[in-house]
Amino acid sequence: MGGSCMNNGAVSTESQIALIVDGEFRVRSLVSHWLANAGFKCLQAENATDACNYLCNSHVHLVILDITLPGRAGTELLEDILAISPDVVVLMVAAVQETRAAINVLRRGASGYLVKPVSREQLLLQAGKAIAQRKVLIDRRQYTERLEQQILRQRVVIRQAHEETIHRLVAASSCRDVETSMHILRTGLFAELLARAKGWSSADAETIRLAAPMHDVGKIGIPDAILRKPSKLTREEFEIMKTHATIGATMLEGSIAPMLQMAQQIALSHHERWNGGGYPCGLAGLAIPESARIMAIVDVYDSLTHVRVYRPAMSEKTALEIMRHGEGKDFDPALLAIFFQNLPIIRGISAQYPDEPREGMEFGLNCPPRTLATLAEPATMGI
Ligand SMILES: [Fe+2]
Ligand SMILES: [Fe+2]
Repeated sequence: MGGSCMNNGAVSTESQIALIVDGEFRVRSLVSHWLANAGFKCLQAENATDACNYLCNSHVHLVILDITLPGRAGTELLEDILAISPDVVVLMVAAVQETRAAINVLRRGASGYLVKPVSREQLLLQAGKAIAQRKVLIDRRQYTERLEQQILRQRVVIRQAHEETIHRLVAASSCRDVETSMHILRTGLFAELLARAKGWSSADAETIRLAAPMHDVGKIGIPDAILRKPSKLTREEFEIMKTHATIGATMLEGSIAPMLQMAQQIALSHHERWNGGGYPCGLAGLAIPESARIMAIVDVYDSLTHVRVYRPAMSEKTALEIMRHGEGKDFDPALLAIFFQNLPIIRGISAQYPDEPREGMEFGLNCPPRTLATLAEPATMGI
């Protein structure tokens, strides 16, 4: 019979290594002889220690394991073997037929159970079948792993395409605006920080970092005379300026992508106020999407503490006083508390990304995306 049963299963035993673990020299020699004739390279171990050493140092494919080893139960060794080499095929050999013992070893991961006396044909047939079945499982697992890696790579490409699209959209809308690209970058990071501190998942927190930069894309529809006016707007001009929220939301609406859906929410509602005094819909309290409540806080903080064409930058002390005054009026009190608790990190982000880029600092379409995770861990409020 020899290697024919192996060939039927289309699994070559060439270069496959078999380990025969048995306390009896005579049995080890005979089984090795059979397996060597079938094309295996054979190793022999008379006890558990030698067996484990071989498994750690050689790529063993098949183990023939006596269930009653000297010094150690073969069933215990079976678990050690599978812990060392999860893909190895183990055939257990017992002196007597015991159904309960057979079920036990098969449940623990053995691929087969043979009762002495074992014939050569019986051994080779069982070994061939078990190796073929194991190969199918390994091939399927490797195929699944390759697919998962491909999906992972494609997700990265899609995410990069998303980020680049955002950068280009924001760049197009802000080329006429007074707000700087650094304002867009900082507020995205601040928003991610607050979202994480509020208990958002990492994925959602990253989504708000990507969505936040689009909060003012609607300004693309505001005339230059109003958008770039270096003095206070008249009542009529301000009414026109306010339409940037609905223009932006219209630009972003209708997408099935969660990030663009969040961007649409933020664009529409980032000027809503906690007490209902904002625009465009006069939403109040929790009726305002949380993403927009976060954006309202970080947008105001960053705007107040940086130069605008119509005013100089305020000191942080003054800006924070104005914001404290807005608690429960302009801003969600719980989110504002989280904002104040995380001020040290917010200051760190501001210092790292000033409006005047430092030498060697890059920001633009080709720069790597900044993630909050690489900057700081937020303090959480436990809410
Ligand atoms: Fe705005
Ligand atoms: Fe802004």
